[in-house]
Amino acid sequence: MKRFLIIGYPLGHTFSPKMHNLALEHYNISGRYEAMAIDPGEFDQAMETLKKENISGFNITVPYKQSILNHLDKVNPAAAAIGAVNTVVCDREGKWTGYNTDIHGFLHPLKSNIPELKSCLILGAGGAARAVAFALADQPAIKKMAILNRTLSRAKELKADLEIQMPSLQIRCLSGGIHTGEPYDLIVNTSSVGMGSLSGKTPLTDLPSLIHGGTVVYDLIYNPAETLLLREARRLGLQTLNGLPMLIEQGSQAFYLWTGHYFPQKVYDIFSSA
Ligand code: ATR
Repeated sequence: MKRFLIIGYPLGHTFSPKMHNLALEHYNISGRYEAMAIDPGEFDQAMETLKKENISGFNITVPYKQSILNHLDKVNPAAAAIGAVNTVVCDREGKWTGYNTDIHGFLHPLKSNIPELKSCLILGAGGAARAVAFALADQPAIKKMAILNRTLSRAKELKADLEIQMPSLQIRCLSGGIHTGEPYDLIVNTSSVGMGSLSGKTPLTDLPSLIHGGTVVYDLIYNPAETLLLREARRLGLQTLNGLPMLIEQGSQAFYLWTGHYFPQKVYDIFSSA
């Protein structure tokens, strides 16, 4: 019996156990995928305990995508460059290898838009933002990037890590807003503002000044399906994307790393409209 986990805090919003358990059942793989909420402050101790248990793999979400790096035996090169891991494969000897399937998941629903996106504004500078910033910096069309974060020092660290790929990257404090005079082609919310205890809130108070008619607004949050940011964007007539396609795609890639199978179509069918 294989055991898989999603580790984060809080985890009330997660769809991952349902998706993965459906896929395990579909392929007749004897196993369970469970949510394990770990209080900040207990994370390091919990990882040491988990190392002694027999698990096959786990996903890591808010706020531990960076802290998990201290507990890994190996890191896939792309995840190491980004500095964030969302999927861990545990081998029979109990060695842990970290991967980042968020990059693929994030780009998937944007594929048809990518050639037209020349400028982007990223809200947040945590683990998810790192995957988004590296994925976008890798797109030849993207020439301009800005990052807004509540904690400026975290945005500074991300800017330093992206120095080679995006030397012109601008960073600002989220509360200070950004007024470059030019609208962005893509605005991505990677921050937690809009979900859990922050649902009903928006990370951007000056959305109209940052857009043009073709701006795409992409919120990585999937629960609620429409955050206040996306509702405001829709009312402004903009194309919007929520985090559901990314959630399914990053999950499918993680499932493949653990089992050699991608999610079956029924996972896509059920969760795409969740
Ligand atoms: P993840 O790995 O999912 O990105 P994370 O690393 O904890 O999770 O990052 C969460 C992001 O949401 C961060 O950018 C965080 O800002 P800080 O770096 O200042 O912590 C942002 N965030 C969380 N709560 C917020 C709030 N109340 N207001 C503004 N930003 C917030």
